[in-house]
Amino acid sequence: MHHFQRIDGALHAEDVSLDTIAAGAGTPVYVYSTATLTRHYRLLREALDAHRESLGDARIAFAVKANSNLSVLATLARLGCGADTVSEGEIRRALAAGIPADRIIFSGVGKSDAELAFAIETGVRQINVESGAELDRLIAVAAGKSAAPEIALRVNPDIGAGGHARITTGGAADKFGVPIGEAFDLYARAVASPHVTPVGLACHIGSQILDLAPMEAAFRTLREATLELRTRGFEVLRLDLGGGLGVPYHGQAETPSIAAYAAMCARVLDGLGVEAAFEPGRLLAANAGVLVSRVIQVNQRGDGRRFLVLDAGMNDLMRPALYDAFHDLVPVRERAGEPALHDPVGPICESTDVFARDRLLPPLQAGDLVAFMSAGAYGAVLSSEYNSRPLVPEVLVDGDRWAVVRKRPSYEEMWAREPRAAWLKG
Ligand code: LLP
Repeated sequence: MHHFQRIDGALHAEDVSLDTIAAGAGTPVYVYSTATLTRHYRLLREALDAHRESLGDARIAFAVKANSNLSVLATLARLGCGADTVSEGEIRRALAAGIPADRIIFSGVGKSDAELAFAIETGVRQINVESGAELDRLIAVAAGKSAAPEIALRVNPDIGAGGHARITTGGAADKFGVPIGEAFDLYARAVASPHVTPVGLACHIGSQILDLAPMEAAFRTLREATLELRTRGFEVLRLDLGGGLGVPYHGQAETPSIAAYAAMCARVLDGLGVEAAFEPGRLLAANAGVLVSRVIQVNQRGDGRRFLVLDAGMNDLMRPALYDAFHDLVPVRERAGEPALHDPVGPICESTDVFARDRLLPPLQAGDLVAFMSAGAYGAVLSSEYNSRPLVPEVLVDGDRWAVVRKRPSYEEMWAREPRAAWLKG
């Protein structure tokens, strides 16, 4: 459920009409709902709290990669949410937004020495180590600081899942994590070092997962690995179950409920006495955001094809071009007339700049506003300035208040980032 609804014919974000925001901030523009972010966080929090016996004091660490806007992060920070980060930049963002270091998890397959050093200095809660090579570098970096950061070992359970082959991470051929067969020796190596403190295991098998079965299988692998490690005399205090739960992009309720997900996790972890951690990105943010765009024109072809040319391009919303992703497209104001099939496209000079084919839409005209739904996760974060289009701005709504929380840069600001080479001046 989200808080984008039609009031008096106009699509609103909470109590603010998207017309008003488009008029004030221009288009294209991302619009986020505080109430939806809050609702999703609370639903997950309550679902996990209902299983304290099995999941312990379960941590929720928002996957910052899904939406790293500082005001979005600050909204979640106030609710008590932590952060799952994959770069120094994301750690800095989380801190800047008010998420304390002891609620920050540092994940990622290729953390540099400098980033590892930064994470140690910052005092993040946990570093998720993804390979033997990384463990060795982390030990060396930590030794230089006489530190012993807490780490979890990310295992690759050889179970991939997800809404698209390009967002699957848990398969044997995927670059992520340590094969389960190698995890035991690696954990032992970590325990033997005075410069890391192994506290548990982690996994994340993919994104936009709509079937709990592969997740359950992966978590069972973690459970068995936990028992095996304990048999070998090692402590396992935490299990980080990653993110990955899918959301209903198509409007219908095809997704597992948060309650069913939490119950499944509790069932698998029951009796282990571990503290669980979760790294949801899409689940919290996707349906909390829309991308509002204006129709530039409708190109009607003689063969009947109708291209709805929008001012948003694939540089603003990459998901359809990258993953064939479906985003519902909704007119901000209802228009009377016979609906017809349209191909919504952007203005970019690439044939991948097609958001969808054959969408049934009312007869839209130049100047009309449309909203791409469920664009709050992996939307703005994936945007670029391709074709020298300024980065799309972001707006946060809270009830009847709204604020621009990322500005559209001016052309001067864009050029200012590119100092002219000395020999080209004058
Ligand atoms: N934890 C780790 C280690 C991850 O790699 C990811 C996402 C998450 C948590 C959060 O997953 P979520 O709950 O959002 O599914 N750009 C793609 C999605 C890439 C996901 C990458 N990893 C998309 O737009 O579909």
